Amino acid sequence: AHIDHLHTLIKAAMDDAGVGFHDLDGVAATCGPGLIGGVMIGMMAGKAIAAAHNLPFAAVNHLEGHALTPRLTGIEGNDTPFPYLLLLVSGGHTQILVVENAGTYRRWGTTLDDAAGECFDKSAKLMGLPYPGGPEVQKIAAECKDPQAAEKRFPLPTPMKGRKEPDFSFSGLKTAVRQHVETLPPGDLNRKDIADLACAFQNTMAEIVADRCARAMQKFKTRYPHLNTYNLVISGGVAANTAIRTRLKSLCDEHNFNSYAPPLNLCSDNAAMIAWAGYEYLNNGNSDPLDFKARPRWPLDPEAPPRHGAGVKA
Ligand code: KG4
Ligand code: ZN
Repeated sequence: AHIDHLHTLIKAAMDDAGVGFHDLDGVAATCGPGLIGGVMIGMMAGKAIAAAHNLPFAAVNHLEGHALTPRLTGIEGNDTPFPYLLLLVSGGHTQILVVENAGTYRRWGTTLDDAAGECFDKSAKLMGLPYPGGPEVQKIAAECKDPQAAEKRFPLPTPMKGRKEPDFSFSGLKTAVRQHVETLPPGDLNRKDIADLACAFQNTMAEIVADRCARAMQKFKTRYPHLNTYNLVISGGVAANTAIRTRLKSLCDEHNFNSYAPPLNLCSDNAAMIAWAGYEYLNNGNSDPLDFKARPRWPLDPEAPPRHGAGVKA
């Protein structure tokens, strides 16, 4: 599928921008982490353009694209200074990192099992909603008339809440959703039941994320006591979730942090964020050789110790 579509996409993007290959200063391509087939095709296309037009090549870590997005947009019209605290919540990853510089990241927390987006997707499937589940859960949760009653009706656990290190775990929450679904009458679930369960689930996700971020924010203030502004950035597909954005905004207001989530089209995977990460990288005088190898696994912070149970998601 990547081979079938890539040429058309590149042409459309170039036409849209009104530029030709000779107008480019460099080529950035995602070289990991992820399913290696797709990664390799994108990477090889990027390398081919770089080789044919004698341009420098930037091998970009997909997660770095999410991490640097606030520097592409700026925060409320201002530049985004380093360091900032980052909650990276996507379909494959859930981490809390300090972005110290373009290229220097400290991982403070990670999920020990499922990623947040994966938990949205799997729970949505249990509720009979289509993939990707995140936006579907958000849509139907909006139909819930009484969120408090929904949370009483479908009590859900908040794994890791209160733990000192800002790690995450979501598999128990997903199991609890399954158990609730099993208590409902068999066959297609009725719309009100799904709306109530989706709403309880989404609020629980927001609660977990806020608790883990609160920990990290405390630690960030202690570690960096003399910053003029404290920024919490949320990025990755799940950052599109309104309930989570709203909850984090009020948490930040309470703790004197700015909360910032990129515009919706820059939260989910996109090429603009990869171009930006490549720009920062090339602009700092770096580039990569054309024999750079695609990486199925590529942690942003190679020095962070592996977490028990976290597997490839660390
Ligand atoms: O960053 P992303 O586009 O791809 C990865 O790198 O994984 O994230 C995709 C994930 C999916 O799990 C999707 O369900 C979730 O982001 N997502 C959302 C919302 N929009 C996308 N989750 C919750 N609420 C949303 N509005
Ligand atoms: Zn992503």
